Amino acid sequence: MDHFQYRDGRLCAETVDMARIADDVGTPFYCYSTATLVRHYRVFAEALAGLDATICYSVKANGNIAVVRTLGRLGAGADVVSGGELTRALAAGIPADKIVFSGVGKTESEMAQALAAGVMQINVESEPELELLSQVAVARGTGARVAIRINPDVDAQTHEKITTGRSENKFGIEWTRAREICNRATAMPGITIVGLAVHIGSQLTDLEPFRDAYGRMRDLVAMLRADGQTIETLDLGGGLGIPYGDAVAPAPAEYGAVVRQVVGDLECRLIVEPGRLIVGNAGVLVSRVVYVKEGATRTFVILDAAMNDLVRPALYDADHTIIPVLEPAADAPMAEVDVVGPVCETGDTFATQRSLPPVAAGDLVVMRTAGAYGAVMASLYNARSLVPEVLVNGGDYAVVRGRIGVDDILARETLPGWLDDDDPAMRRTGG
Ligand code: LLP
Repeated sequence: MDHFQYRDGRLCAETVDMARIADDVGTPFYCYSTATLVRHYRVFAEALAGLDATICYSVKANGNIAVVRTLGRLGAGADVVSGGELTRALAAGIPADKIVFSGVGKTESEMAQALAAGVMQINVESEPELELLSQVAVARGTGARVAIRINPDVDAQTHEKITTGRSENKFGIEWTRAREICNRATAMPGITIVGLAVHIGSQLTDLEPFRDAYGRMRDLVAMLRADGQTIETLDLGGGLGIPYGDAVAPAPAEYGAVVRQVVGDLECRLIVEPGRLIVGNAGVLVSRVVYVKEGATRTFVILDAAMNDLVRPALYDADHTIIPVLEPAADAPMAEVDVVGPVCETGDTFATQRSLPPVAAGDLVVMRTAGAYGAVMASLYNARSLVPEVLVNGGDYAVVRGRIGVDDILARETLPGWLDDDDPAMRRTGG
């Protein structure tokens, strides 16, 4: 359930009229709902109640510091995958000892940053990474608390671009080598093995792959403990899917039951890294119809939002429900349209042959379920802007990131001397 509902025929975010925000900040913009964030966090936390589990919100899903701080105040830690995300999590007030640093390609400086901050653990995904981390830790004189990320070779049954737990994927250390690598790691200076980690993919709508992967982790924990390793933490990753369009997804309580059944008695401190589940339905992308164009075989609803603002339909064929801000009459005639953006590629299509109530130029529409992997994946393609992000809280709202437009980018671009008409050296050479 989310807090974007019609009130008196107008779509509101909590109790704020969406059209009012649009007039204020201009379109397109992302709009997030605090009440929805809180609700999703609580439902997920409730699903794991009674377990020794830390929820480390996956900052990659939505890194806006107002969003991260909202979750931090509810008790969330953070899962970060870059120095930039670590900086964000700390800026949002997440304590370092609740931050997990994941990722397949951590650089030396990111390792040093993580050690300096004092993160809870670093999830290591390869032997070369382990060796570099050992060197960095020794050079700094700070030990590194490490979990080995395991690749369990389990198919998550999700989109191939976001599946991460099969042996052909770049992530983790193959489960068959876990014992050997952990034993090697234990002998490395500066490294303390504290646990294991796994993450098999994102937008999982079937719980069986979780069950399989967690079962494999359970076996590994037992085996490593028999070797004398201290396995205190077990990071179960994120990945629980949410309903897009008409799709259905398991309830957090059902996921919680799987966790309880498979790893609940291991006496490990569990870490979970949900992203999408917390923020996906807590955000929408608000856009205005620029034109309705009658093509030869299709009707195109052309929006002022584009693939650079929300790339998920272009990249993963994602289905984001589109609704008008003014509630259509119950008997409004539906028409099949293609909803597209203004960017110069056919891939800039949000929906094909979608049944929508009548919309006209100037109308506001909303793309739902855009709180996760929306603003964070935006680009400046076609010299468009990074659009504003707005956070609603009850009857209040605030712009939590202003527009980053072409002027901001031009201020960072410079002409080299040989192209600069005002450069004296240029005038000498007549270039
Ligand atoms: N932990 C790790 C190690 C991850 O790689 C991810 C997501 C998560 C947690 C959070 O997963 P979630 O709970 O959000 O499913 N851009 C794609 C999704 C990429 C997910 C990458 N990793 C999309 O828009 O569908």
